[in-house]
Amino acid sequence: MSADGKIAGIERKQIKISSDEDKNRVNELRKKYDAILVGVGTVLADNPHLTVKGLDYDTNPVRIVIDPHGRTPDDALVLDERAPTVIITSADCDKEWDCEETVRFEDELHLSEILETLAEEIGIESILVEGGGETIARFFKEGLVDRYTVFIGGLIIGGRTAPTPAGGDGWVADNGIKLILKDSMVLGNGVVLTFEPEKR
Ligand SMILES: NC(=O)c1ccc[n+]([C@@H]2O[C@H](COP(=O)([O-])OP(=O)(O)OC[C@H]3O[C@@H](n4cnc5c(N)ncnc54)[C@H](OP(=O)(O)O)[C@@H]3O)[C@@H](O)[C@H]2O)c1
Repeated sequence: MSADGKIAGIERKQIKISSDEDKNRVNELRKKYDAILVGVGTVLADNPHLTVKGLDYDTNPVRIVIDPHGRTPDDALVLDERAPTVIITSADCDKEWDCEETVRFEDELHLSEILETLAEEIGIESILVEGGGETIARFFKEGLVDRYTVFIGGLIIGGRTAPTPAGGDGWVADNGIKLILKDSMVLGNGVVLTFEPEKR
């Protein structure tokens, strides 16, 4: 995020906050997880590949998109051949994608149920949630965050409606979720902070 706590501008388009050093850090971080997860808002705004440089289809983490209404376009880069992709959608959505797997859930999507299914059916046991703010807020709200890592770069973006790392409709919990700082590291013209949620 920027030094004023935004992850994009008011028009929700991607903006360069990361330095080259931070891109390398994210590359290394992605390698440690079975899967990388984003909400469909990030696919539509940023059209990311969500792959690790130098890895191929068999070695890249699985890409997961939560997309209850089937808004991921067929030509989204997250559907390319560089890694397997799993789309999580609802039973009401009948769209088909050219991807490794589409998992359809009845009723409302519950993250704990999604994570259980991903572990049991696909063997995914660790997930890096990269965004955006709506999705990250939902993980916090359901108490499913083990670690929160953020790079804060030397940039001011501004805009009261510009997205932040945890968006959503309001409080993620009464009085917020307390975090314990576990690590801080200067990285180029920014800093990386790692927190863990206080046990509730
Ligand atoms: N700086 C960064 O590192 C970074 C990283 C990622 C994204 N971004 C920025 O973040 C913005 C996009 O983020 P966003 O917050 O708008 O969207 P988002 O979190 O990427 O996606 C939100 C959408 O995903 C679906 N979704 C996610 N979790 C769900 C759940 N548990 N249950 C049901 N639906 C769920 C919903 O889709 P429906 O609306 O279809 O129901 C929801 O509206 C862009 O501006 C992008 O540039 C920045």
